[in-house]
Amino acid sequence: MSPSSAAPVITIDGPTASGKGTIAGRVAGRLGWAVLDSGALYRLTALGVLRSGCGADDVDGVAGVAARLDVVFQGERILLGGEDVAGAIREEHIGNLASRIAAYPPVRAALLQRQRDFRRHPGLVADGRDMGTVVFPDAPLKIFLVADVEARAERRYKQLKGKGFSVNLSDLLEDMRIRDQRDRDRASAPLVPAEDAVMIDSSALSIEQTVEAVLDLWSKKVF
Ligand code: CDP
Repeated sequence: MSPSSAAPVITIDGPTASGKGTIAGRVAGRLGWAVLDSGALYRLTALGVLRSGCGADDVDGVAGVAARLDVVFQGERILLGGEDVAGAIREEHIGNLASRIAAYPPVRAALLQRQRDFRRHPGLVADGRDMGTVVFPDAPLKIFLVADVEARAERRYKQLKGKGFSVNLSDLLEDMRIRDQRDRDRASAPLVPAEDAVMIDSSALSIEQTVEAVLDLWSKKVF
């Protein structure tokens, strides 16, 4: 696809539980665009690894699981081999395993085209860690969404409690610190803002205020 005919993409990258998914979904809803939750693909791969019995340290085996993922995104439902796993992939142990296998370059390579295939008219909002740096480097608007680790842990705690999972705030905070560190330090597609990304700190902003900030930046690009 030539750049002139490519659908526009707004990328929203940032550390764990910074609110990327919620903001991406709402911005996409307001614009009538498609949405890509790239983290779900890493989480699905992690779930696939556990179910296949492949060892988490077997890099080629894990990349094979990523390449063969039989997944369908259907609104709120995420079907893996026909089974709805939208709830199962949100568990913390799946997020932690996703973060480990996301450091393997062959796994990232196996998921690259699948992510790019989400791009369609009239536009796409994509959230993750490397949307602006690797997957959609030509995106016209790149956001790097940050928030204090304590604010993020509180949000994740409420989100998981709301889904009926049993969680402990201090364990969550510790897991998040480890996960952020691993995402930042990995050699392949580390969590860093793209050079042309706009930083938004949502620690003291409501969801609506953050959504408005993104839409405001987009309207300045377009008009
Ligand atoms: O919900 P949370 O922000 O914790 O994570 P997620 O976006 O669902 O992603 C799960 C894990 O996948 C992250 O901890 C990252 O290590 C990895 N990931 C990645 O490496 N690249 C992406 N584009 C998205 C997620």
